[in-house]
Amino acid sequence: MKAISKVFETEEVETHALKNIDLIIRSGDYVSISGPSGCGKSTLLSILGLLDLPTGGEYLIEGVNTSELSLDETAELRNSKIGFIFQSFNLIDELSVSDNVALPLQYSTQKFSMEEINKRVTRCLDMVEMSHRMSHKPNQLSGGQQQRVAIARALVTDPAILLVDEPTGNLDSSSGDKVMAIIDHLNQNGTTICMVTHDPRYADKAKTKLKLLDGTITQEEALRKAI
Ligand SMILES: Nc1ncnc2c1ncn2[C@@H]1O[C@H](COP(=O)(O)OP(=O)(O)OP(=O)(O)O)[C@@H](O)[C@H]1O
Ligand SMILES: [Mg+2]
Repeated sequence: MKAISKVFETEEVETHALKNIDLIIRSGDYVSISGPSGCGKSTLLSILGLLDLPTGGEYLIEGVNTSELSLDETAELRNSKIGFIFQSFNLIDELSVSDNVALPLQYSTQKFSMEEINKRVTRCLDMVEMSHRMSHKPNQLSGGQQQRVAIARALVTDPAILLVDEPTGNLDSSSGDKVMAIIDHLNQNGTTICMVTHDPRYADKAKTKLKLLDGTITQEEALRKAI
């Protein structure tokens, strides 16, 4: 990101949610983002995930300038490279656990066979230890279980980049620790993680810790080894 800014404009107010953000995230990084409520964390994550556009600056993914992409190309890049885990699990109550996890594959531009879909859904549910609840509906699960299903859904497309917004905010500490262990494990296997968290215990697991205040990065602490 080069000099990224985001201004939300309504008739009465103008909110400068992000101001002049410069940020490099390398493949395999583990970045945490923390800061007070309203400082721009979710806005930054939405722009990183191509869910929203900046109002200024440049955002490149693997050398591709995302502002030059059409809407379709943007959606394709998002679907193929990026997974999301939100604080509220955003599962669809009418669908079973396995159908929820299969959803990103069904909406992908790449066509997957039923066999491939079943294989991936089973593998991802195994990874989060939720295979035994495949046919349940989300409202028949605990909060921690729903979050694990949401993680399986985020992983089913094999994203290179996983964006995570307060993954443990709605969970008790033991379910939260389980979810964090899954996220750590993914990073150890090469997934790039960018995670918003209020919890210093979890922020400390990241290799790069960003602090945001009023839309600006005030501190960047990198635990990368010097090359
Ligand atoms: N769609 C929107 N329209 C107008 N203003 C917005 C919009 N989304 C966010 N904002 C404003 O942008 C600022 C940053 O919001 P953001 O959601 O990124 O904060 P946050 O750091 O994620 O906070 P929290 O910790 O409470 O989730 C806030 O002042 C908010 O009011
Ligand atoms: Mg937020």
